[in-house]
Amino acid sequence: MVGRCRHPGLWKMLTVAMCVALVGCLQAQELRGHVSIVLLGATGDLAKKYLWQGLFQLYLDEVGKDHSFSFHGAALTAPEQGWKLMAKALESLSCPSDMAPSHCAELKDQFLRLSQYRQLKTAEDYRTLSKDIEAQVKQEDLREAGRIFYFSVPPFAYVDIARNINSSCRPGPGAWLRVVFEKPFGHDHLSAQQLATELGSFFQEEEMYRVDHYLGKQAVAQILPFRDQNRKALDGLWNRHHVERVEIIMKETVDAEGRISFYEEYGVIRDVLQNHLTEILMLVAMELPLNVSSSAAVLQHKLEAFRGLRGLNKGSAVVGQYQAYSAQARRELQKPEGFHSLTPTFAGVLVHVDSLRWEGVPFTLMSGKALDERVGYVRVLFKNQAFCIQHERHWAPEQSPCLPRQIIFHIGHGELSHPAILVSRNLFRPSLPAHSWAEVQERPGLRVLGRPLSDFYAYSPLRERDAYSILLSHIFHGRKESFITTENLLASWDFWTPLLDSLAHEVPRLYPGGADTGCLLDLELNGGHLSFSQQQPEQLVPGPGSAPKPSDFQVLRARYRESPLISAWPEELISRLASDIEASALQAVQHFGKFHLALSGGSSPIALFQQLAMGHYSFPWAHTHLWLVDERCVPLSDPDSNFQGLQAHLLQHIRLPYYNIHPMPVHLHQRLCAEEDQGAQTYAGEISALVANSSFDLVLLGMGTDGHTASLFPQSPTGLDGEQLVVLTQSPFRPHQRMSLSLPLINRAKKVAVLVMGRTKRDITMLVSRVGQEPRKWPISGVLPSSGQLVWYMDYEAFLG
Ligand code: BG6
Repeated sequence: MVGRCRHPGLWKMLTVAMCVALVGCLQAQELRGHVSIVLLGATGDLAKKYLWQGLFQLYLDEVGKDHSFSFHGAALTAPEQGWKLMAKALESLSCPSDMAPSHCAELKDQFLRLSQYRQLKTAEDYRTLSKDIEAQVKQEDLREAGRIFYFSVPPFAYVDIARNINSSCRPGPGAWLRVVFEKPFGHDHLSAQQLATELGSFFQEEEMYRVDHYLGKQAVAQILPFRDQNRKALDGLWNRHHVERVEIIMKETVDAEGRISFYEEYGVIRDVLQNHLTEILMLVAMELPLNVSSSAAVLQHKLEAFRGLRGLNKGSAVVGQYQAYSAQARRELQKPEGFHSLTPTFAGVLVHVDSLRWEGVPFTLMSGKALDERVGYVRVLFKNQAFCIQHERHWAPEQSPCLPRQIIFHIGHGELSHPAILVSRNLFRPSLPAHSWAEVQERPGLRVLGRPLSDFYAYSPLRERDAYSILLSHIFHGRKESFITTENLLASWDFWTPLLDSLAHEVPRLYPGGADTGCLLDLELNGGHLSFSQQQPEQLVPGPGSAPKPSDFQVLRARYRESPLISAWPEELISRLASDIEASALQAVQHFGKFHLALSGGSSPIALFQQLAMGHYSFPWAHTHLWLVDERCVPLSDPDSNFQGLQAHLLQHIRLPYYNIHPMPVHLHQRLCAEEDQGAQTYAGEISALVANSSFDLVLLGMGTDGHTASLFPQSPTGLDGEQLVVLTQSPFRPHQRMSLSLPLINRAKKVAVLVMGRTKRDITMLVSRVGQEPRKWPISGVLPSSGQLVWYMDYEAFLG
């Protein structure tokens, strides 16, 4: 007591030191634990090529730290044979080049002693595995920290294995379970959803690690840290005002021979673009979280970036196929002589991100097999505002503002042959983690994407590491940001599935492969579209696509129901309709100072909206009022809302004064289309107030397969006659409640255009061509402007079948 009074400071220090030591002890105890890693498919290709080496690397990184390990290679093969195969895979394990051979041999020996093979076939095998792990932990007086199950098996085996793990291989309380899956994770949105639901019935989201091995490539894994460490320099640059375009490229020289049974079902978009290239796109496009080491924040921001992706359509993509592919497919799949595959082995896709940061910046994703070189990179090309007067020979070498300005994340291969990050010297000197990245030595004569290496500040990893070893380390440390969550996966399929559907019957451009391909696959960005820059040459071999091409037909002019009919292939038809609408608009604005346009929703007009948004820069939008022909009784932000379609495909791309936009008031007083809210009357009032004589300059209609138009349906008299300008109606299709312009109001228009597209409309087109004016049976037949003009726009499929 006396002592304490005399030396209070000393006591305090001692107490603190004891506490720190105690906490340290407790923490060390807390951290120490045993981890069992079960590699399913331990004798397969991926395991042999990457996974065993990755597990060995994990062991090298972690040995002597806080954990002990056991490695269980598993497969269906019987124990003796399985062990032989696995031992073969283990023979080639290697250590980093800077490790002393004796130390390497010692660690390899330890690793082999910790690794064993076991057959995992029956539910009993899984139970035994679990019991063995428990027994080992007990026997060695360890605490179990967790179990990793790596599924390096075909996806059809996932569910059975998952069931067995869930029912008998979960570790006890306090220890974690991590299950790791390899792609493919489905074939489209539906199949991905089904697989996700099945796996979700066995595992929690935080237990699942879906691998995209590109996220483990060093240059890719560095994208977010690079953006974070160079925030100051990039803050003002990483946006639409400065970025001209972004290219995300993976070129391969190998072809698909030997894997055709897989490839024929997937093709390059599913194999590479939907996963690897999309993930990279997200890392470039996402808003940077404040804390890039927070998995939750990274995943959340990534998901938000997915939401900003503009939907793809046929014009967003081009596809090709190397010439030998069909013959390989015939051989490997034993197909008849006449078989020609439509599977793309090359694809270029133009992606837009609709956000304030990226609006208008083209992101090009491209990948292909049998190309002239193997290389992967992301290139962010900046706009160059410099206007250089001096002759090139006087430019400051390497850092002149006149040179291209770009940042390249070089994933691998190519001339450079290793991962690297390159920043043009006329941009800024980047900062990279000094302990793991270093400046690349000058290599005279070496050029990267057409520029000498000396143009760049160029950095490479000090030690090149394989993607799988990086990902295994992230799995071990529970770093989920390098993996694909269920939401992330479904968002990606949601984005890609419509394009894949629309390309299902597209004939890919044939290319000879290798250097012979020349510039046959060169791409061109044109407005919102991507195309090959060269015309399609003569087919190299007769392809399956002998169907007539649009150019074989002229735009057809005829009459339908005694009104003018314009018929063409969809693309031409849409472009004709868009031009006609623009001509009407210019005329109306010239005469009356404004143009009142009423638009329908649904899928047919989407291409028209896109065409108007991307291809009509002289359209007098500032003087145009946009009205809705009909609306579904859902909130305006609902994907089913017609207004939402208009917003997504047109409004966000044009400059229309807000007060010229007239959505239908279906959502009033916190409810939808209640009679008492008088939404229809309000809209009618707005029309009467702004549109002279309530006569729209142009009304765009569609025709349903049952003969409905706007939201006026057969056998329901509402809106077919009478005084009301706007009515509430009932649809036989969901959502049932609708608001619609009435037939009398439509017929007051100066011009009505009816757009009918697709084979499904063939029967109704035939029928309506023969009937008289019977709006109760076929509301479309009641469309007959009293003093205006009616024009039908039908594509060949709707008109000719
Ligand atoms: C795989 C694809 O995911 O990635 C293969 O299935 C492709 O078709 C491979 O060849 C490319 O990966 P890497 O690491 O060799 O660039």
